[in-house]
Amino acid sequence: MSSASTGHAGVDLAAALDPITRTVAAYALSATYPTLPAAAAEVMDLANRSDAPFRDVDRVIRHDPVLAARVLSVANSPLFRPPGPITSLRVALLRLGWTNLRSILLQAVAEAHVFPRGPRRDIATARTHAVAVAHIHRQLAHSLGLDGEHAFACGLLHDLGRPMLFALLSSPSAPAVDRDRRVDVVDRLHCLVGDRVARRWNLPEVVARTCRSHHDEPPDGSASQIGATTIAVSEALAERCGLGSAPVLEPAPAAALLRRLELSDTEIAIVVGRAAELCRDLA
Ligand SMILES: [Fe+2]
Ligand SMILES: [Fe+2]
Repeated sequence: MSSASTGHAGVDLAAALDPITRTVAAYALSATYPTLPAAAAEVMDLANRSDAPFRDVDRVIRHDPVLAARVLSVANSPLFRPPGPITSLRVALLRLGWTNLRSILLQAVAEAHVFPRGPRRDIATARTHAVAVAHIHRQLAHSLGLDGEHAFACGLLHDLGRPMLFALLSSPSAPAVDRDRRVDVVDRLHCLVGDRVARRWNLPEVVARTCRSHHDEPPDGSASQIGATTIAVSEALAERCGLGSAPVLEPAPAAALLRRLELSDTEIAIVVGRAAELCRDLA
């Protein structure tokens, strides 16, 4: 991952980027990004709250049949290991609990609204990667004693800028970029765009910060909070299973990153084993 995405931090984009990336950056910075539909925004807001009343979630979902169907599809996926068929939102709550239901809602909203347009292969890769990182990041947060649901939201949306850029570049008015260059340009600019979209959607600050700076080197390498280190570890574990954000020739060195977490060897083995299991479920 190039660090050119640090343009948000005040780096002179004009000096830091090659001409094609610079052209796309200028276009992306002047673009108007879609807003989330009202129901999706409300569900996302409720899912980000540990104290949200179930009846509010139920009311919003009932008015959005497409989202309701997506919620059931996600709830019945092997990733959430449902003990039996989930046939309604209430059954999901009773069988899987509110904590899992929050993740299910977030994943359903993201699948329905974050990855809607763009080249099919690139969007599919971005979606699978986002879901893999979300589940691995949540598992990692539990091992570190951090908030699992915030970790899930941050993992799911960390690369928000990628699908937004793929969609933007499919617009007829967008600068022409070859497919070979497109992945690289998206890689360089996705943090910049992710930050803008996260703010436009009023996502929680922890999510916006993750979109903006998940490729920045944390000042102290700390894993005491959700951030660049925990995301980097989750990304490396996803890449090891072939679920990176783009095809990679050499997977990131997960072992070196894992050592930063100050977990015991046993805890690390559990995190690695669970990540591989999640990736298998996703495949
Ligand atoms: Fe990223
Ligand atoms: Fe990523």
